[in-house]
Amino acid sequence: MKITIIGTGYVGLVTGACFAHMGNQVRCVDIDQEKIDILNRGELPIYEPGLKEIVDSNLAEGRLSFTTDTAEAVRASEFIFIAVGTPMVENGSADVQHVLDVARIIGGAIDDYRIIITKSTVPVGTAKKVRITIDEALRARGFKTHFDVVANPEFLKEGKAVADFLNPDRIVIGTESQHARERLQALYDPFCRTDESRILIMDIPSAELTKYAANAMLATRISFMNEIAAVCEATGADVNQVRIGIGSDDRIGRRFLFPGVGYGGSCFPKDVRALIQTGEELGIRLNILISVDQVNNAQKLRMVIKIKDFYGNSNLAGKTFAVWGLSFKPGTDDVRETPAAVIIDGLLQAGAKIQAYDPIAADSFQQAYSLPIEYSDDMYQCLENADALLLVTEWHHFRRPDFARVKAALSSPVIFDGRNQYEPSYVRERGFTYLSVGRQPVLAEPHSSLIG
Ligand SMILES: NC(=O)c1ccc[n+]([C@@H]2O[C@H](COP(=O)([O-])OP(=O)(O)OC[C@H]3O[C@@H](n4cnc5c(N)ncnc54)[C@H](O)[C@@H]3O)[C@@H](O)[C@H]2O)c1
Repeated sequence: MKITIIGTGYVGLVTGACFAHMGNQVRCVDIDQEKIDILNRGELPIYEPGLKEIVDSNLAEGRLSFTTDTAEAVRASEFIFIAVGTPMVENGSADVQHVLDVARIIGGAIDDYRIIITKSTVPVGTAKKVRITIDEALRARGFKTHFDVVANPEFLKEGKAVADFLNPDRIVIGTESQHARERLQALYDPFCRTDESRILIMDIPSAELTKYAANAMLATRISFMNEIAAVCEATGADVNQVRIGIGSDDRIGRRFLFPGVGYGGSCFPKDVRALIQTGEELGIRLNILISVDQVNNAQKLRMVIKIKDFYGNSNLAGKTFAVWGLSFKPGTDDVRETPAAVIIDGLLQAGAKIQAYDPIAADSFQQAYSLPIEYSDDMYQCLENADALLLVTEWHHFRRPDFARVKAALSSPVIFDGRNQYEPSYVRERGFTYLSVGRQPVLAEPHSSLIG
């Protein structure tokens, strides 16, 4: 099958590479010439586990190509996926301008039947706008051709994007066209050979809303657990035990109940706010999601408040903190809306110095945020002479560190763990003062006087 993917970012590149991996002929398009040049040189503009291997092999076998020529790529394929960004605008809504720009080019280029698929996360009603935009462009050319528009939101997770795409838990296809439905089913069949019921056919608005509702539900679980963690800290309960206690109920389930430093990334914050805005436009106040967003914004600053409380001073001048982890989650170089940026900024504003280490995301963090930080290439070197270690992103590398080395490098054995990676008694036995999320602090001897 011939496929064109417009927008070669985290979603577009993974989608294109995975379709090529199944034997399809795929063209990936982007307006960013530099990105296309990088890809054509055989390099990747992003980090995603397993992606390099399938891009390399499919490039070598001629099934995958990269171009900036949207019109040519649109004419060459039966399936046209729109996977461009839908960033948040000031009022919180999703900006579908890039999607509609692409629709205009499609309408100006197609010369025969095409299936146009919105893969970007777009508000309800966007597929309809895409249809109208293509129709207008066709009319302006005085050209008539039939086309279908399908909503097919993407559910992959950064850090596991390739595995998710190759083995999806569901594929949502919103369409009113039987032909488009059959063609999309045929396209996705190889990904669902063990269970074709994972292909969910629905109407277009339901497909569009499913994506927002899914992210909003996941964000809600995180903010909920962050609030429960605050109650645990104040009452002496242990959030880890509460988490297991509630997760054992199969109506609740164990996944996605971890408290932390707040959610970030390019999806949850933006999609929650976009859904709130959709509600606003419809006269529906989405109270739960408004709170979810507020709780999350506050949670990102909670570690800063905890640190100030610990030292009994909101002025942290003279203190140096070593930050482990800058990406918004492990497994990715994506730093969009990463809690690390909020935490580091808060500490810098309080006068502290920051030394930071991330196994993958240091460069992208440095480019995205011009914060005066000392970056380190080594997780232990990053700790040298710091007053405390702050664990912000739970990369696997940080799960079982050499605590003797950690202790030797720090000027004071204090760990603020935003991801509950360690067992409090274990780190205490190794001489650390340890503050985590939703659990009681454990204090090494010299610090026991510092907390009231
Ligand atoms: N990143 C994720 O984990 C994820 C998961 C599911 C859904 N989504 C959604 O998928 C969409 C894309 O997200 P992303 O993270 O891949 O974004 P991204 O910013 O990584 O990539 C978007 C790409 O689109 C390109 N682009 C913009 N306008 C274009 C145009 N007119 N023609 C061609 N290319 C154009 C940009 O140059 C960029 O390379 C968003 O709507 C996002 O919400 C993202």
